[in-house]
Amino acid sequence: MENSVNKLVLVVVLQVLLALQLCSTEKFDVKPAFIKTCRFSDADFVACSTESVQGLFDKLVTGIEGLEHVGTIDPMKISKIRILQGDGPVSVNASLSKVVVTGFSNTKVVRNVVSSRDFSWETHIRLPKMRIEGSYHMQGRILVIPLNGHGKCWFEPSDMDIIMKTTTSLYERDNHVFYNVTATKVDYTISGLKLHMGNLFEGVKVLEDSTNQYLNDNWRPVSEALKPIIAKTIEDILLAIMQNIFIQLPAEYFVADLPRSG
Ligand SMILES: *[C@@H]1O[C@H](CO)[C@@H](O)[C@H](O)[C@H]1NC(C)=O
Ligand SMILES: *[C@@H]1O[C@H](CO)[C@@H](O)[C@H](O)[C@H]1NC(C)=O
Repeated sequence: MENSVNKLVLVVVLQVLLALQLCSTEKFDVKPAFIKTCRFSDADFVACSTESVQGLFDKLVTGIEGLEHVGTIDPMKISKIRILQGDGPVSVNASLSKVVVTGFSNTKVVRNVVSSRDFSWETHIRLPKMRIEGSYHMQGRILVIPLNGHGKCWFEPSDMDIIMKTTTSLYERDNHVFYNVTATKVDYTISGLKLHMGNLFEGVKVLEDSTNQYLNDNWRPVSEALKPIIAKTIEDILLAIMQNIFIQLPAEYFVADLPRSG
């Protein structure tokens, strides 16, 4: 018997700008002042590391000198997100292009824990307001609603609480310890969702309005149905950003007593 576990058939292909810049690390040879350094041996390590990650987020909002290719995270621009999912409550072949995400400047880092055993991170962040807008192309259905069309769309989730579990390994380069960010797993909850998809059904306005109304009225099951896709999308975006940052910023700037081999 088939169970109804969602299958992400072919998942999300993201074109987050990610050029692995292995060569340009010397610019962070000295610790930038905005990074708060913590130690596992501190009694208040979790509080310190939470503050340290908050500082990094705050700085990313305006952009970090030397990390220009990471760009600013508010607004965050993504050229294209592709979504292809076969079965379950959502069956769609869709793409979202010229995506602009706003709201990260209000990111609150609630808690960040770094494991002294395997150097994984568990990060809890809260985004009170977020808006995602772009141009979509979509064929498929969400719940029982067939959705076919292309046009502009926006989504506004509120009070997004994200728990991010990130695995890393350590390696050394040029006398520094670095995090090799290998994977991240995201789970989240939201307290509301408003959305609009323009030009659904190729401009049949009555259907478009009633469908948008239905999706907004039923935001909870709609967002539950979309959760695997959204979580995977957030994972891909965050993983690319974190890899980009930590390939350049030495890990010991964040945690001074990480082990070294020699
Ligand atoms: C998804 O849509 C694109 C563009 O309309 C199309 O080229 C592609 O073949 C579709 N893929 C599937 C699996 O239906
Ligand atoms: C980072 O981890 C990946 C996956 O385990 C591995 O293939 C890669 O060689 C590692 N990179 C470094 C610099 O250690």
